[in-house]
Amino acid sequence: MLHRLEHLLGLETLTREQVTFILDQSKPFQEFHRHPLKKLATLRGKTVALAFFEPSTRTRISFATASARLGADIMNLQAESSSLKKGESLIDTVRTLEAMRPDGIVIRHSSSGAPHFVAERLGIPVINAGDGTHEHPTQALLDALTIRDRKESFDGLHITILGDIIHSRVARSNIHLLSKFGARITLCGPAMWMPRELESLAPNIRRVPKIEEALEGADVVFVLRVQTERINEPALSAEEFILGYQLTAERLRRAKPDALVLHPGPMIRGLEIDPLVADGPQSCVLDQVTNGLAVRMALLYHLVGGAPVDSSENSKEQSSAAN
Ligand code: NCD
Repeated sequence: MLHRLEHLLGLETLTREQVTFILDQSKPFQEFHRHPLKKLATLRGKTVALAFFEPSTRTRISFATASARLGADIMNLQAESSSLKKGESLIDTVRTLEAMRPDGIVIRHSSSGAPHFVAERLGIPVINAGDGTHEHPTQALLDALTIRDRKESFDGLHITILGDIIHSRVARSNIHLLSKFGARITLCGPAMWMPRELESLAPNIRRVPKIEEALEGADVVFVLRVQTERINEPALSAEEFILGYQLTAERLRRAKPDALVLHPGPMIRGLEIDPLVADGPQSCVLDQVTNGLAVRMALLYHLVGGAPVDSSENSKEQSSAAN
């Protein structure tokens, strides 16, 4: 039996139907952003708490904009300016926010599992905006929406993910999502950044050491951000990384001619991606940002606004309303 989604903590445990439903529900919001007037009253009177315990620009602005365009008020907590600096614990901080009665909370935290911890203790919907190296579910949903707009189906798509896989919550959420739909996933990056137990991640997944081979016939290429603090000599220098793994226009020619290039941002041009590719015709980077608003509006609408995030529940409610 499918359950109504109360929180969005990760994609690993979601069914194909739940993912498809969220993507379908994001479609009207994609249209909505093309309108000159971009404000709805759907969440009027509701408050969304944004609790970002880690620095973030685009994800925080995206959730803030999505909330505002649905008519909700925002409570904004930013790590740099809060009492977190004074050593307050996660639970004390979120309980303080909860005492101001928000209707939902969006959390980013450097510890994997922090949103789950909060969801078990608070009585409001929790959305994970990135937890440690665990998951970043809204990023993978917006990536999936971007791919689905251009490719007929995920089934059998060749997806290549480049870079620091082991530390990437974006990679994990994308692997969980895309493998549910039968995509074939190839991982490529420096050996020290490769996960060991691939089989536990997804069924159709392989590791390929050479970037040229990893790109051969790819339909979608994900370039991950390289966290510069993880580049440390002698294990790996920036030059070695660029030589071995940068996505250049020449390397991209190994992929299908209509292959899509995705990057979650922030991009480090000249490190993981050649500016020619970042700005080239195959790059979907700015569409990813726009689609992020649509996915987050759809989720806030359902989780905070109280509509069911589940196709079967939805149809049940519709049929009982009709009776
Ligand atoms: C990602 C993140 O923070 O996990 N960025 C984002 O949400 N736009 C990717 C990253 O910072 O590497």
